[in-house]
Amino acid sequence: MQTILITGANRGIGLALMRQLLQDDARIFATCRAPERADALNELAQQRPERATVLQLDVNDEASIESAVASVAAKTDALDLLVNNAGIGGDDSGRILGQLTSDEVSHVIRTNAVSPLILTQACQKLLKNGDNPRVVMISSGLGSLQRTGGTSYAYRMSKAAMNMAARVLAFDSAMTGITTVTMNPGWVQTDMGGPSAALKPEESGSALRTLIKRLTPADNGKFFQYDGSELPW
Ligand SMILES: NC(=O)c1ccc[n+]([C@@H]2O[C@H](COP(=O)([O-])OP(=O)(O)OC[C@H]3O[C@@H](n4cnc5c(N)ncnc54)[C@H](OP(=O)(O)O)[C@@H]3O)[C@@H](O)[C@H]2O)c1
Repeated sequence: MQTILITGANRGIGLALMRQLLQDDARIFATCRAPERADALNELAQQRPERATVLQLDVNDEASIESAVASVAAKTDALDLLVNNAGIGGDDSGRILGQLTSDEVSHVIRTNAVSPLILTQACQKLLKNGDNPRVVMISSGLGSLQRTGGTSYAYRMSKAAMNMAARVLAFDSAMTGITTVTMNPGWVQTDMGGPSAALKPEESGSALRTLIKRLTPADNGKFFQYDGSELPW
């Protein structure tokens, strides 16, 4: 049985991926900022109590990270998969030249790049004990340096930084034995992606599940599109 931790599992792509992963032989620590308001996630977890545990985790709060990882460690000594899914788009003060503020740009970069790295670090001991241990960073095509077009400064900077964190983690695999990959979930109909997006959350979640299942150490350091093709950095 795979042991999995996923962030931002209460809505959007995280919830869709959670539904998908529950179909596999997996025990999932489904984390979110406010479990008391995570109705859909709580309902899902109540249907599969032996498989799903809901934990509070705000990725920007190091005490919350410590507490969530301690809760996992109290139940298992190994984690096979960490999915860093939680993320924000940020508001116009992180998006539009002329309106940018240092606070907002920093907040988006912290949430999308710094915090996933700190959580990954906090999970090292559990991951090192895992079976084919993997870290999946849910990034974005907007983080690719090849992508043209303007705006979305903070978001695009944050995903490029997340990609680099994944690359460095991948180089460290010689020491850790952990495979780290980056994935673009596609343009998805969530609160972030909006209603016009190309994919339904379940389509993205299903594709990500397929991709995650076939990951091996040979994939270490790669940047995947949700369909399994590779993306340019
Ligand atoms: N949708 C797309 O088209 C698209 C495209 C490319 C990449 N992505 C990436 O896919 C991931 C999921 O996006 P989504 O579309 O599902 O977005 P979403 O519907 O806006 O959901 C974002 C999730 O992240 C959580 N989150 C935000 N800040 C957090 C924090 N500090 N600590 C813990 N959780 C936090 C949210 O929790 P709350 O409910 O508490 O706010 C929510 O669960 C993100 O990393 C995003 O960048 C999405």
